[in-house]
Amino acid sequence: MKNIIYDDGVFLLNTKNTSYCFKVNDYLHLEHVHYGNRIEINDVDALTLKRSIAYGDSVLYEQGSQYCLDATCLEYGNVGRGDFKEDSILTNINIADFKFEDYEIVDGDVDPANLPNAYGADETLKVTLIDINLQLDLYYGLFYETDVITRRVVVTNVSNNSIHLNKVMSMCLDLTQDDLMLLDFTGAWSNEVNKNEKKIQTGTYVVSSNTGFSSNRTNPGFIIKKGHTDEFHGEAWGFNLIYSGSHYSSINKNDKGIVRINSGINYINFDYELNKDDSFYTPVVVLTYSDGGLNELSHHFHDFINENIVRGTYKKKERPILINSWEAYMFDYNKRKLLALANKAKDLGIELFVLDDGWFSTRNDDTSGLGDYNVNKKKLPGGIKALSNKIHELDMKFGLWVEPEAINPDSDLYRAHPDWAIEDNEYKTLYERNELLLDLTKSEVRDYIVENINKLIEDNNIDYIKWDMNRQLIGVSGKYDYEYIKGLYEVLDRIFKDKDVLFESCSSGGNRFDLGMLCYSPQIWSSDDTDAIERIKIQKNLSYLYPLSTMGAHVSASPSTAVLRKTPLNTRFNVACFGDLGYELDLNNLSSLEINEIKKQVEFYKQHRQTFQYGKFYRVESSDNKESFEVKLDETIVGKFRKLMNSSVGFDTLKVIDLKDGMYDITSRPFSINIETFGHLINFVLPFKVNTEGLLVKEVSKYKGLDSKQEHYVASSNALKQGIKLNNLYISSGYNEDVRLPLDFGSELYLIKEKKDNE
Ligand code: DGJ
Repeated sequence: MKNIIYDDGVFLLNTKNTSYCFKVNDYLHLEHVHYGNRIEINDVDALTLKRSIAYGDSVLYEQGSQYCLDATCLEYGNVGRGDFKEDSILTNINIADFKFEDYEIVDGDVDPANLPNAYGADETLKVTLIDINLQLDLYYGLFYETDVITRRVVVTNVSNNSIHLNKVMSMCLDLTQDDLMLLDFTGAWSNEVNKNEKKIQTGTYVVSSNTGFSSNRTNPGFIIKKGHTDEFHGEAWGFNLIYSGSHYSSINKNDKGIVRINSGINYINFDYELNKDDSFYTPVVVLTYSDGGLNELSHHFHDFINENIVRGTYKKKERPILINSWEAYMFDYNKRKLLALANKAKDLGIELFVLDDGWFSTRNDDTSGLGDYNVNKKKLPGGIKALSNKIHELDMKFGLWVEPEAINPDSDLYRAHPDWAIEDNEYKTLYERNELLLDLTKSEVRDYIVENINKLIEDNNIDYIKWDMNRQLIGVSGKYDYEYIKGLYEVLDRIFKDKDVLFESCSSGGNRFDLGMLCYSPQIWSSDDTDAIERIKIQKNLSYLYPLSTMGAHVSASPSTAVLRKTPLNTRFNVACFGDLGYELDLNNLSSLEINEIKKQVEFYKQHRQTFQYGKFYRVESSDNKESFEVKLDETIVGKFRKLMNSSVGFDTLKVIDLKDGMYDITSRPFSINIETFGHLINFVLPFKVNTEGLLVKEVSKYKGLDSKQEHYVASSNALKQGIKLNNLYISSGYNEDVRLPLDFGSELYLIKEKKDNE
């Protein structure tokens, strides 16, 4: 069945649950009519903004009419024709009046540009608009099942003169709903994706980055929702760019109540010269809508990313559990230490060993070596190959960290090719983490990277690459940022397209967590902040836009490097399992108790990995002190997280959202608690007195913990949806084995399985 319908000037694009509609109006402008729930083509007149009378301050498009562009919803903003909503395109000509010329509907994808794109569209619509100087081709990809529409624009110079493009948005969308809020996600290194909610009033709100990259400052993805919309109810519109460079989206509400959303590459300093017949291709923007609340909106994004963005061998494939050397040893390691770590990891059931930064050149800290690929023979006498062989002999996969876009001035590469680094010769060079970026707009630089990474992978049987990038792009203008990103995409395409290697991208953690990178790397290192309590926020907020399968999430040491917080091992796992699980700590420093716990964690994760990586994820409950996550495939798992304990705390419930009717068995994942947690209370249960701060308790705690009893409940789906009552929490006096003990920073995982008839 065709889901892009054209009928007498009206375009209606239907996905499973949404409709997107616009029409060619009497003035040949493309007038936006609706983006929301499914509608009929006959609804168009009723939904179009009326023009019974012109506003007094209008610039009339035609004398004697009531038509003015400022009070009209447009599919793409015109310039200098009385539309004072924010412009979607700017050129040196400063006037553009786009009129409908033609359209084409084709089955499947149409991809006119060499930029990453979604794939697997059911149909694609191209609408051509023409102005005196420019032609605009608006592309709409329809992804029926995931309720996604993609948009992009191709601008062509149809004049005889050269034109400077100074702004060209991938899409413009004029909404007429009132009471809207903007959710965007801002942050910094090690403090990514903080969710902000802003009421949209008259004026302009900007979601942008100018660091050269999609950035940890502001993720390109954002959400517009009705004021009352929550996780489970209400309307919301989601937007994200398939692009990794500086981006710009604006939400501009005018006095007539029209909210114009523009989204595309950052146009500040942008200058792209188009000669006669030249075209410029914008990146693609992804749009989705739901009237079932924010969780449902996120499900659209999740399904779409797993189905239509991530590609290659690891599409929908389970990701291996890894051990990464970074937080264990940083730069301070040798082959013996690494093999000891790998052996321990193997014992625990870990599947992939990743050697992080520090394996090459003189790289014993972050001041030198980037750009060079010669192995540090002091640390690794037999080279990477010998280590990789040893890891493979353990029947583990072998992964390697690289940072190919960067160069240290103290490197052989810089000494040989100083001109390959991005530096301004007139101004003093500014460094970030002692490094500069390589000029990826130069083909010889791209070739150098491709050749070296390909050689590394092939010579050393590498199964996984962690591709890092640790600085911002500064002091460039014009179209440089766009050309850099295109250069990067070309490099990634050449390296990874036909390889089975698992590629995890990283940029100081989550500084480039975007759909552009996900077209190449199925997973991204979410943050250098591996503190479990901080990670609840980071992974939860990423989940508004990205599925769990894309999030690298590791158990690290306690106290955490990030905030020096002590967090129970149980919670560190319970958070990291909502993502692609890894461990990033010195496993040889663990006590026997911790070793046993990790073995059980790894086993549990393997049994439920498909659910954790590809299940339907819900943000169930959230308050300052508590969070709960649910993930559902054939089984359901709920994680309940607590920050601080209260004395004499009240009852506690377990709420499960997505269950088909039936009876369910609910079991908690047992875990062990370090006995030091109980301080002087130990003396109340022991027949003799001990110094609770002393050596004896410390020693015993390495072997023996207090085991939580496995809770077991039986309940119907209806009871679970409402919330069943759990055993009491510790309440400051007394204890028996039915008392639950998720104390400060504590957490529990509950497994919910349907009861079979005869059970
Ligand atoms: C930044 C990354 O985010 C870390 O995980 C680690 O790989 C370091 N770089 C290594 O320098």
